[in-house]
Amino acid sequence: MNAEARQSGLTDQNNQGVRFYVRFSLWQRYLHAVVIVTFMGLGLTGLPLRFSGSVWGTAFARVVGGFSAILFFHKFCAVLLTVAFLMHLGDIAYRGLLKRQKGIFWGPNSMVPQLKDLKDLYGHVRWFLWLGPRPKFDRFAYWEKFDYWAVFWGMAIIGISGYSMWFAPFFAKFIPGSWFNIALVIHGEEALLAVWFIFAIHFFNTHLRPDSFPMDLVMFTGMETEKELRERRPQLYQRLLEEGKLGLTTVAPPRWLKNFGRAVGWVIILAGFVLLWLTLTSFFRASGT
Ligand code: HEM
Repeated sequence: MNAEARQSGLTDQNNQGVRFYVRFSLWQRYLHAVVIVTFMGLGLTGLPLRFSGSVWGTAFARVVGGFSAILFFHKFCAVLLTVAFLMHLGDIAYRGLLKRQKGIFWGPNSMVPQLKDLKDLYGHVRWFLWLGPRPKFDRFAYWEKFDYWAVFWGMAIIGISGYSMWFAPFFAKFIPGSWFNIALVIHGEEALLAVWFIFAIHFFNTHLRPDSFPMDLVMFTGMETEKELRERRPQLYQRLLEEGKLGLTTVAPPRWLKNFGRAVGWVIILAGFVLLWLTLTSFFRASGT
């Protein structure tokens, strides 16, 4: 078993010569799992507050023990998500500033948008219209970077407005009271945007596009097969091959992990679609359209 496979917590299995590329470390997958669970928790508890007059909002509140119980769980999930967010920032600072891994801030392994992403976007639109070849994506495609930054700045806006409401008596010493009404509007609308974005665009980008339909398990297993890597990210494959850093392993992800990923993935996707439907209908009913 090679070091990367061991680090990602995988066990040996007979996989008939298929080779795998480790795309996400165990740490990255744990962090993503915390984000999935807490974001779902925040959506499930925040949206009944936002649509507290709706049938489903009041029914949910009755089951959970009232709106104050919902708010308690909302704050609990908020703290966990904040910790995960801060750990991610700490990890970037540690690797980028202390260990001086400059590749975090620029280059093909960075999440920072670059000229290639614009060219890929342009090339992709042309490919959609049968006007050109498919762009050769590298470590992160432009839409993956977009998803990442959407969550990043969304976290900042939702977090600042959320904490200012939570600790309103403290913040009221420094800012005018009208801010708290504005914070509630910003928090509620940005949350709605985040939920719609994740449950529609992110789910589609990740699982429902033809490349990965019906579900991409890479965030659970951490691995892609060599064939998937070559087809989905030809530039990354080529680059690693030329640099002699392909580091493929024959150790397959264990079956239990794939089944676990499928089960959790389906529950989350279905729950997301239900929430998407409930919030869309309530939103348009409230706005009279
Ligand atoms: C650090 C993160 C967060 C904190 C500290 C936080 C805190 C709060 C607080 C204190 C409230 C109650 C406001 C009030 O009525 O007094 C609230 C409401 C709400 N939260 Fe969050 N929240 C956070 C993240 C999120 C996220 C990620 C979502 C969406 C997935 C979300 C969705 C909502 C919604 C929809 C409401 C109801 C807004 C309304 O009534 O219009 N929150 N949040």
